[in-house]
Amino acid sequence: MVGSANMDIVFSVERIPSPGETLLADSVARYPGGKGLNQAVAAARAGAATTFIGALGKDENGSELFATMADAGIDSSLVRRVAADTGQAFIVVADSAENTIIVASGANAQVASLTDAERDAVSGAAVLLMQLELPLEVVIESALAARSAGTTVMLNAAPALDIPDELITALDYLIVNEHEASLLGGSEDLAEASHRLAARVEHLIVTLGREGSVIYRRGDEAARVPARDVMAIDTTGAGDTFCGAFAAAIAEGQGIADAATFATAAAALSVQILGAVPSIPSRDRIEAMLAEPA
Ligand code: RIB
Repeated sequence: MVGSANMDIVFSVERIPSPGETLLADSVARYPGGKGLNQAVAAARAGAATTFIGALGKDENGSELFATMADAGIDSSLVRRVAADTGQAFIVVADSAENTIIVASGANAQVASLTDAERDAVSGAAVLLMQLELPLEVVIESALAARSAGTTVMLNAAPALDIPDELITALDYLIVNEHEASLLGGSEDLAEASHRLAARVEHLIVTLGREGSVIYRRGDEAARVPARDVMAIDTTGAGDTFCGAFAAAIAEGQGIADAATFATAAAALSVQILGAVPSIPSRDRIEAMLAEPA
């Protein structure tokens, strides 16, 4: 994992406020998060040996996130502790389970290139999973290093940014939600946007929340995976849980549709608990859900 780590400050409110509006929160809480850390925890809890490459500040938040990695069994020996605040995210979660998120990158922004040891770890991994909360230069550098070493390269293009050709051609898997697909595919028509994007990458997975996910291989739709019908409390980190569990399943040799089914069950479990890292399920819970009728 080359990715971000944030301390999430989560405000639970009745509904998402409109611009200029002040709302009183029902509660506020802090949880470990960050797309990179969430995905690393999801991969580790799904059973994958996981190494985290990224940066934390030397502050209390950094120490808490470092402890979170240890609790999840993640190898944190390459994590940098830098002279900047640990990343923070301000999250508003509505009763409908929808959220809005603002990230202050802090330490994450300092990971601009790989050290030799980090490059070796990327090259020695079976799968490299990344997001777009670190500087784009290091995401590209990591993807190219992994690609030339034969490591499977996955990118979750979140938050959505234009992806240069140099990066997209180094990917084996691109994972996006419907908003990211529309933005990157350059069309408000999701099917059209997805097809355009799918034509640029070996495998594209578009996650659709309650509608499941669609898998494209070399531009063509290859499979649809239905969602699980569950009562959602907080969707924060559900996409991350999908990505981490998916990467773990691919690393252990599952086929793409089976891996997406496994990841869908993990994501369905995650939306039933408040907070990102606290909601990410263990492999046992994922397997128990998969054993139930859909
Ligand atoms: O994807 C959810 C994550 O986005 C949160 O945990 C927050 O830290 C932001 O990175």
